[in-house]
Amino acid sequence: MLNMAVRAARAAGDIIVRAMDRVDLLNITTKSRNDFASDVDRQAELEITGILQKAYPGHAVLGEEHGFKGPESSDFVWVIDPLDGTTNFLHGFPQFAVSIALFHRGKVERGVVYDPVKQELFTAVRGAGATLNNRRIRVTPQKGLTGALLGTGIPFKDQSYLDAYLGMLKSLLKDAAGIRRAGSAALDLAYVAAGRLDGFWEIGLNQWDMAAGVLLIQEAGGLVSDLEGGDRYFENGSIVCANPKLHGPMLDLIKPHLTKELRQASA
Ligand code: IPD
Ligand code: CA
Ligand code: CA
Repeated sequence: MLNMAVRAARAAGDIIVRAMDRVDLLNITTKSRNDFASDVDRQAELEITGILQKAYPGHAVLGEEHGFKGPESSDFVWVIDPLDGTTNFLHGFPQFAVSIALFHRGKVERGVVYDPVKQELFTAVRGAGATLNNRRIRVTPQKGLTGALLGTGIPFKDQSYLDAYLGMLKSLLKDAAGIRRAGSAALDLAYVAAGRLDGFWEIGLNQWDMAAGVLLIQEAGGLVSDLEGGDRYFENGSIVCANPKLHGPMLDLIKPHLTKELRQASA
């Protein structure tokens, strides 16, 4: 099943790369404020779901652009973000990826994140580790925030939690060596797994942004939680991840900024 996910991710990556130099000709729709989708997002998703549903007719798929399809009762659900980092893609900023995860009875079992520009393929299989272009990857051994390079996502759609977010940013900035906002959550998570970032946090994500990356990090020896340290990140869309030594110190600086709404979302 991992091989099939890789095949689907590469096929979608080809569609994305072919469209890169004619972005101005694309049909772009605004789904909500600052949330865009183009023909490329839609075509890439149809390519992925076509490949997966042909191979596994009994499995369901949940894609960002076309929603849920397939048998409601299936134990297997493929969760797909055909193009994570659409805003980057539309601006010619070369940081975006395809993200595909396979859930079995609610647990992520396979994860693939593919960067078609750098041709970097991140894969994870539950219990069998994580790889980048077939080489094993691990999270960093970074002990605390001093000297740490963190990734994040700055709120740009729903800004109701902007003040809380800025409080977290301020606290983490004081100690960290640097903070990056690269614009593709799936790749940010893959970078934590590969030891390129020491940690990452973001509020307001969807399952398709996170699912493959979460398994990559867990299989690379890292910890993933929501803002309160719990495991409801797929439900509430907030995520904090890092190696086991840095995860606690990050949470300690994040938690004091949680509002009642953010706490309720975690409860
Ligand atoms: C977005 C990217 C971005 C994150 C947003 C996501 P999209 O996904 O992952 O980094 O900050 O929250 O929605 O819309 O480009 O697939
Ligand atoms: Ca996304
Ligand atoms: Ca997307």
